[in-house]
Amino acid sequence: MSELASEFEAMVREEHQQMRGVLRELADAFWWRVPEYFPSILRRVAAITGPHFRCEEEVLYPALEKVGGIQPVTELLANHNQLKSSAERLAELAKKEVWSDEEVGVGIELIHGLLQHVNDCDGLVAMVERLPDETVRNILDAHKRFNKASLDLLRWAQEVKKLPIPAAN
Ligand SMILES: [Fe+2]
Repeated sequence: MSELASEFEAMVREEHQQMRGVLRELADAFWWRVPEYFPSILRRVAAITGPHFRCEEEVLYPALEKVGGIQPVTELLANHNQLKSSAERLAELAKKEVWSDEEVGVGIELIHGLLQHVNDCDGLVAMVERLPDETVRNILDAHKRFNKASLDLLRWAQEVKKLPIPAAN
């Protein structure tokens, strides 16, 4: 694997680790029924996932689709769309002062869906080694730009995202 591809893969895996960490904190907040901790953790989830999803959708997925061997980009975007709905649902739950048993169950299930996506994404990122160095360089540059813009997940989805989003299955 080229140095650039290794750099990109290591960086994305590190972001995935951060995501797993904050998602586990969110699950703990449900488990221990401490809604007061929830909004600040959720803000961190949104802050980390915003630039990350943006990089995947705007540059990584299209580049990988060109070299083949991944699910169609439309399917990957549909997955992201579903995750965005999960984040919105979690943001709704974050406004509550008390959760019912049902809400705790729903919340934990939503978080498991997000964790599953992070695991799937680790596999996808390994395919970056198939890309030419120039493409990986462009992806790394875009990643830097998106981090600098630091739009959280919901703001990016509402204000910037221009790609048509297929309905989630
Ligand atoms: Fe990812």
